[in-house]
Amino acid sequence: MKRRTFVRNTSLAGLGFSVAPGLSFGSRNNTEKLQIGLIGCGLRGQNHLELLLKRSDVVIVALADPNEEMIERSLKMFDSNAAVKPIIYNRGDYDYERMLETEDLDAVIIATPWEWHSKQAIAAMNARVFVGLEVSGAFSVEECWDLVNTHLETKTPLYFLENVCFRRDIMAMLNLVREGLLGEMVHLECGYQHDLRGVKFNDGVTPYNSGVELGDKGFSEAKWRTNHSIHRNGDLYPTHGIGPVSQFIDVNRGNRLLTISSMASKSRGLHDYIVNHEKGGENHPNAKIKFNLGDKVTSMITTSNGETIVMHHDTNLPRPYSLGFRVQGTRGLWMKVNNSIYIEGMSPPHKWENDSPYLEKYDHKIWKEGLEKSVGAGHGGMDYFLMESFLDCAMNGSEIPFDVFDAATWMSLTPLSEASIKEGGAVRYIPDFTNGLWINRKNNFALNG
Ligand SMILES: NC(=O)c1ccc[n+]([C@@H]2O[C@H](COP(=O)([O-])OP(=O)(O)OC[C@H]3O[C@@H](n4cnc5c(N)ncnc54)[C@H](O)[C@@H]3O)[C@@H](O)[C@H]2O)c1
Repeated sequence: MKRRTFVRNTSLAGLGFSVAPGLSFGSRNNTEKLQIGLIGCGLRGQNHLELLLKRSDVVIVALADPNEEMIERSLKMFDSNAAVKPIIYNRGDYDYERMLETEDLDAVIIATPWEWHSKQAIAAMNARVFVGLEVSGAFSVEECWDLVNTHLETKTPLYFLENVCFRRDIMAMLNLVREGLLGEMVHLECGYQHDLRGVKFNDGVTPYNSGVELGDKGFSEAKWRTNHSIHRNGDLYPTHGIGPVSQFIDVNRGNRLLTISSMASKSRGLHDYIVNHEKGGENHPNAKIKFNLGDKVTSMITTSNGETIVMHHDTNLPRPYSLGFRVQGTRGLWMKVNNSIYIEGMSPPHKWENDSPYLEKYDHKIWKEGLEKSVGAGHGGMDYFLMESFLDCAMNGSEIPFDVFDAATWMSLTPLSEASIKEGGAVRYIPDFTNGLWINRKNNFALNG
């Protein structure tokens, strides 16, 4: 019997069967190291590897990725950390199945192109391996149900790796909101607003420059992500926005998302970029591509507790990066774009204040205590806290803050927004993926901060 199955069955016998999915996971012997496999070791997978290789309580047993270059880059990281080399599964797109079958894994992290996420998460849950799933939007609502149903059938937990929930300012504002300084929540805004036009490519001379190539000639996300802008029109990357927003208003925990209505602008940004780029021009083959994705996709979401949410997707026009958070309640609001806050009775009447003193005062405990260790980790350190939380859940069976129900809800916004845009902004109902569990579930994220 595989060690993992043995540990789970033993702990099940000890605890008595529980309906709480995943209770048996993480009940391992504390002296054992967590055995991890990685599916997809591209640039994001390598971020995860970097954090994992620094730890003494995990072993990275295996990597599954068909791309030789990414495997090589990852193996160099093992060398430079003097870590035992993992088993490599690189025999094509489905070799992760062999990894799941062969290796005795406790957990797996999936960091592949979006179209693989659900397939691979479902395969891992079926293999009874604790799943850490990178973020994305889904392709269909059915796919989201498949994730939920596989979790319910296999009782295998899924941790949705939404790192922005751990952003320092978000966590400070969560403290401030929970103390009631902004009053009752009324309206929130968020989005993915990141100029992604400068896709990386390899021209054989100056590898990985910003250029105008995509598909086989591209590198990393340019190989696959830009293709979505050709074929789809919707909010393709909703979770960095809706994930944090969900924490402020307890989505799937006493509240739920009800409806979405989306509209898309015309599509000009990528074509303009290609024809005006020094490596592109009117005669470049990619200048003929007809991009489908509206440069600016805007969605309006309603919730059962009566809040409204505006969500932006804006990746193909020139702009500085911003997730555009706005958190507004009956006593005031925070707007990230201007670093500004206004709290009635505290701020000078009708005047914005800079948010820094508030961010300092309400800084979350995990940031104060873990700041030093987070230095150098990806995305301003927040990836360190995400990894800590993921490993805590996988090792100790702690309650997962962003679980399969959150993954399904947040990911479903992509196909629902695509459908809504096709129908001129028609309202689409967001399924209750918890089947009513949301009524009694409690928000457990970042309490006691
Ligand atoms: N949370 C964040 O801040 C953050 C940041 C970057 C990327 N991401 C997400 O991480 C994921 C990966 O993005 P990336 O930037 O690393 O892209 P990438 O292209 O650099 O890496 C993807 C890797 O997956 C591999 N792959 C493709 N098909 C596979 C298969 N069938 N089995 C195994 N491996 C396969 C590719 O060969 C590649 O090495 C995406 O979902 C992306 O949205 C999240």
